[in-house]
Formats: sequence, structure tokens, C-alpha cells
Amino acid sequence: MNRTKPLLSSTTRAALERAFQQRYGETAALIQSATAPGRVNLIGEHTDYNEGWALPMAIDRSVTVTFAPRQDRLIRVASDRFDEDTCLDLDAFNDSQPRDAQWWHYIAAVAQQLELKGHKLRGIDALLGGDLPMASGLSSSAALELATARALCAASGVPWLAQDMAALCTRAENDCIGVECGVMDQIASALGEPGHALLLDCRSLTTEPVAMPSQASVVVLDTGVRRALAQSAFNQRRKSCEGAVAVLREHDPSIRALRDAAPEQLDAVRRQLSEETFRCARHVIEECQRPSSMADAFAANDLDRAGALMNDSHTSLRDLYQVSCPELDHITDSARRHSACFGARLTGAGFGGCAVALVATVQVDDFIAQVEESYRVNHTAPFNAFVTRASAGARLLE
Ligand code: GLA
Repeated sequence: MNRTKPLLSSTTRAALERAFQQRYGETAALIQSATAPGRVNLIGEHTDYNEGWALPMAIDRSVTVTFAPRQDRLIRVASDRFDEDTCLDLDAFNDSQPRDAQWWHYIAAVAQQLELKGHKLRGIDALLGGDLPMASGLSSSAALELATARALCAASGVPWLAQDMAALCTRAENDCIGVECGVMDQIASALGEPGHALLLDCRSLTTEPVAMPSQASVVVLDTGVRRALAQSAFNQRRKSCEGAVAVLREHDPSIRALRDAAPEQLDAVRRQLSEETFRCARHVIEECQRPSSMADAFAANDLDRAGALMNDSHTSLRDLYQVSCPELDHITDSARRHSACFGARLTGAGFGGCAVALVATVQVDDFIAQVEESYRVNHTAPFNAFVTRASAGARLLE
């Protein structure tokens, strides 16, 4: 999403519902709040659209949609943090919907996909809130989509099937917004589990909960860098991957995606690939192995091994996939220089945004202070860091 401001900071149900009542004057009994978290991906980057594996974790920051059903088919949405309120008519959707990334387009896109699935939705009045920073690579778009879906389903009595809704929201983003993302962000936001990351198979969309280590903290390090051309660079990497698959398939038709290829198979076709296509494919094929290795390392409580995998992943994203930037390289280097850091890597698409570090909990404050000092001396982009915990996926607030 193209806004940098945070959403409403209050996340308690009572505060959200008070704000809603002030806005719409609605009877309290009809008001509910749906919430969906952002995510950090611990490892397995740019693997989702190659049908590989990833290890994302839903975080304890979220988007909320406080809502009450309407009698008609209008969706009215307000937000204290955006300048514009919006009103969408469920009976006026058509194929010439804007393919854009304004915040209300995500809401329209999800509603449209639910209707295409055959659900006849009721309108809602809604107020957007939450504490998830936007446009920083923590999947605020997926969180907005899933919170919207949760609210619309609740208002219209549509049963909540989390995995299906993640796939529907991904389609909304691909088909209606025109962003060629994979399914990882939406799955994490829909299916997150407290205390656990999710080992996600992006072909079958099945997930396995992976218990997070008790003595380490997950720290999000935001470089403050936002890249305007990140989307086109992302699409270009996707094309490179598809190009590699087309060549690999000529030799082995069973290869449907880079997930299916072994490193030796890629080496065998190297001369038929451009240097860029080869590098991208090599990153993906090697990165596909890392999520399950990291899950094994967590199970064995081998945090040095988990950290080493994160560092390898970052190196590969920097040198092979080439989606890092000087600020991400600096922040991960300085993170690793702290003795409490097991490993650090960029998280999400790259080109700016956030890094994630695994840090011994007892020294986490000192770690953040040291990384911040080093960053501020070297860069002008605004630094932000916070410790986060694995949290539950999209739900109605109790
Ligand atoms: C973005 C996309 C995801 C995934 C990551 C890279 O976050 O939305 O689907 O491709 O980049 O791993």
C-alpha cells in the first residue's frame, strides 16, 4: 500500500467500538471488530510464487475493521488516519474497477472476490484501525484484505474458512489490484498461531505450526526505506523465474515450478539461461531448502544453526536474487555484530522495508540500541525497531 502513516493506534475492542459509535452513532449491540495481523517471514523468501516453502509468522500488530451490518448493499468505510472516507456500492462493481493500490481498492477487491464466489453480501459501515505500520514490508495489504474479509463474512453469515479466504484475498490482490504477489502474506495473516511460525507449503497451501524458541526474540528492524519501483522489480524477478522453468521443462517436463528443480538440473541448463535468470533460479532452488532446515533447527533448539540459515538467506537475496539495498545490508551487518544476535536477514520482498533478527532475549534492549545508533550515524531514513511475538490469524475480537 502506498501510505506511510500508521493506522489508528488503539487496538482494544472497547476503544475501537467507542470510536465507531462516535463516527456512525450506531447502537452498540450491532458493532463488532475483525482483526488480522501483519507478518514477518523468518525464511523462505521469493519462494511462494515458485510453489516452494516459507516460514512466516503472524505478528502482534494488526489491522482492525470495526463494523456494523447495514440493510442495503453499501460499504461505507472511514479511517481517522486517511484523509478520505469512502463508500462502495456492491451492486456497482464491474470489470473496469480501478487496478490501483489505494486503500479502499483492497476493500473493494475483497468484496468483489467474495461476490464472484457466489456470496451475496450485506453492506457494512466500517472504521479502519490497528497498529500495523503500513508500506514497510510487514504485509499491511494482506492484513487489510483479511480483516475486511473477516468483517464481510461475519456481517453476511458466510462461514469462515481461513485457508480459502487467504487464497481468495491473494486472488483479489493479483486480479483486482494487479500485484503479482504469492500467497505467503495472506496465509500468515489468515492462519497465524500464537507462539508459532508456520512452515508453509506454497503448492498445497498446507501449514505446519513450528514452535518459536523460548529464549530468543524476533526483532523487526525497519530501514525506513520505501522504493517506488519495487513492484516492477518484483514482477521482473518473477518473470526470470518463469523463464528458468520454461527451459528446465524442456529437459524434464515434470518440472512445473522452480520448487521441482534440483541444483544439478539448473547447472545442466546454465548455458541456455541469461546470467540474471540463472542467479534468480539458483537463489530460489537453494532457498526452498531453508524453511524446513530452520524448523528442524528450532525443534533441536539450535539457534546458532537457525541464525546461520538466516544469514545465508540474506547473502543469497543480496547477491543472487539482488533484492537487497545498502540500508538492508547495513542493518543486517550491524545486527550480526552484536553478540546476542543469532542471525539477521531482509524479510518480505526486499528493495527496502524491514529486516528480521533472531536475538537472545536477555540482551534485546541493548541489541536494538546498538543497531539504532549505527544506523542513525550512517543513514538518514527513519529507523524503527520492535520486538514482536507470533500471534493468531484473522479473527473477530472477543
Ligand atoms: C512479498 C509478496 C509475497 C512474497 C514476498 C517475497 O511480500 O507479497 O507473496 O513473494 O514478497 O518472499
